[in-house]
Amino acid sequence: VIPLFLDCDPGIDDALALGWLFCQDDVEILGIAASGGNVSTAQVLTNTLGWLQLAGRTELSVHPGAEHPLAGASEYAEETHGDTGAGYARLPTGGFTADELPAAQAWVRAARAYPGELIGVLTGPATNLALALQLEPQLPQLLKRLFIMGGAFNYRGNTRPTTEWNVSYDPEATKAVIDAFGASTHLPVIGPIEATEAVALTPERLQQMLDRPRSEPWSGFLDQLAEALRFYFEFHETDGHGYLAHVHDPYVTAAAVAWARNQTAAEPEQDSSPHGAAGIIPWAHETEKAAVDVELLGSLTRGETVADWLGRWGRVPNAEIIRSLDAEAFLEHLTITLRQGPQH
Ligand code: BDR
Ligand code: CA
Repeated sequence: VIPLFLDCDPGIDDALALGWLFCQDDVEILGIAASGGNVSTAQVLTNTLGWLQLAGRTELSVHPGAEHPLAGASEYAEETHGDTGAGYARLPTGGFTADELPAAQAWVRAARAYPGELIGVLTGPATNLALALQLEPQLPQLLKRLFIMGGAFNYRGNTRPTTEWNVSYDPEATKAVIDAFGASTHLPVIGPIEATEAVALTPERLQQMLDRPRSEPWSGFLDQLAEALRFYFEFHETDGHGYLAHVHDPYVTAAAVAWARNQTAAEPEQDSSPHGAAGIIPWAHETEKAAVDVELLGSLTRGETVADWLGRWGRVPNAEIIRSLDAEAFLEHLTITLRQGPQH
């Protein structure tokens, strides 16, 4: 069993990541933190509970995240994910309530429960994890590995010209997390948008996910996911990418789980490539280790992630960055997985 803690901000691609996770029999979801980001923390919490209720996973604990980033004010992305953060989906409300334990404490509890084994995944801003580090500075040693969806390295941003959404929302938190986790045995894995953007879900793929006799509750979950994605397709078309959707979060979530599976295999594949664990980070064509930092000050570039590819700073690498991935293979896997649904 792979113990996992997810910190997310559903968010349409976060909902897909949740859906993919629900289909994994060997993953024990120790908790889900609701982070402010795509919409407010309160709305993310409502959405997370709604998606879980639809999928029949009301036994899981959902923890309220911080209301605001560590510094500065919250900004939301309604144009990308819709006013509710779930596109055109209609999610159930009221059938299930959040856990009282705040997200930062829930991170610490999960890490202490599975020392050296927990896989952490961030598909939203890093605020809760940064707060958790203040409570338990040993978190990087307690986790087996952290996977982060975020950042844009030498690339056009999806928020400001050079910044990616999750990092832009809380640059201080991202920096605190990378600084702390960058000193652990397994460097944190970062899936930046220039890599995850390649995972472009099309209406045809969505149709394949739906084209199958289905039973409840999965059928209801997929139907609402389709409604959410319809909004996401429209947003991407308006934003100039065509009628498709970049689904960043399911890739990083699935890569985290598949990496952990390989680690527990009888003969795990080893990291022998000079550029890092290409092939070991599943579906990644190429990864690269580098010293990474986050710009906190720049009047034009606050929230930009900077990787020192050529070692100009003379610092040791503190992250492993996914540079390119096999998007078609992953999309095929995602489509088949969601189409089949949970296997229990
Ligand atoms: C990230 O920002 C959010 O809008 C998405 O859910 C994803 O986590 C991509 O930049
Ligand atoms: Ca997200």
